[in-house]
Amino acid sequence: MSEPASESVSLREPILVFDDVHLSFAGVKAVNGVSFEVGARELFAIIGPNGAGKTSIFNVLSGVYRPQRGRVVFDGVDLVGKPPHRIAALGMARTFQNIELFSNLTVLDNLMLGRHHHIRYGAPSAFAWFGRARREEIANRAVVENIVDFLELEQWRAFPVGLLPYGVQKRVELGRALAMEPKLLLLDEPVAGMNLEETEDMARFVLDIRDELDIPMILVEHDMGLVMDLADRVMAMDFGTPIVTGTPSQVQADDGVIRAYLGQEHPTEVTT
Ligand SMILES: Nc1ncnc2c1ncn2[C@@H]1O[C@H](COP(=O)(O)OP(=O)(O)OP(=O)(O)O)[C@@H](O)[C@H]1O
Ligand SMILES: [Mg+2]
Repeated sequence: MSEPASESVSLREPILVFDDVHLSFAGVKAVNGVSFEVGARELFAIIGPNGAGKTSIFNVLSGVYRPQRGRVVFDGVDLVGKPPHRIAALGMARTFQNIELFSNLTVLDNLMLGRHHHIRYGAPSAFAWFGRARREEIANRAVVENIVDFLELEQWRAFPVGLLPYGVQKRVELGRALAMEPKLLLLDEPVAGMNLEETEDMARFVLDIRDELDIPMILVEHDMGLVMDLADRVMAMDFGTPIVTGTPSQVQADDGVIRAYLGQEHPTEVTT
């Protein structure tokens, strides 16, 4: 209550401002005038039928694609035109719709790769293994060990990732993103293809990330039960354009959202 005004203001400032962003591919308007903000402690979800533009928004955020128009401001920094490694170093981490891990490497090694932009030592000191390089390696190991505990990966730590059950691989990918100690985490369909038990585990970890690690997230997911349970706010979109943004119950009751999903379930309505 007696917090200085400047601190309470900064807590309310959004970590991300996505402002009137347009991205087209040869005539396909993948992202067509999308605006939203994500609060510093918010779990913000994006839903929409296949091809709605959800992954394209992540690709703009992480610098894979440069939008033709619009502004993307992350933690006060304008991202448009910055390459992916710079954006990652600013604190944006993501998991992918299709798992992207090194399947021959162990869980621990994959997680260590998530630390890569934190490793600052130059080659000479790395070879000599003195001083700073050694201290940084120890610090990075400690971060990775905490993630192994947090995501309950202990029993899998020394296994090559490619040999692990699908649900565990998705968890390792989440761990690799967490190893970057991100300021914002982008999750692209984290429970796609999972069974019920794996889905419940993942939901628990996502909640723990928000509540214990205080990391804001953008969640893209087709599992409506999960979105409605976890998200603080939801943006529903179709054909690259937002339909509505609001609380889960507002979005669930929205006529435009219902129509977008009915259109997908009854394609004859769209084609005739
Ligand atoms: N690299 C690309 N080249 C051409 N078109 C693309 C490219 N990436 C995306 N698109 C098109 O942009 C539109 C949005 O695709 P996007 O992958 O963002 O959808 P999505 O909402 O993530 O769908 P899904 O739920 O199926 O993952 C689609 O029409 C898609 O075909
Ligand atoms: Mg997608």
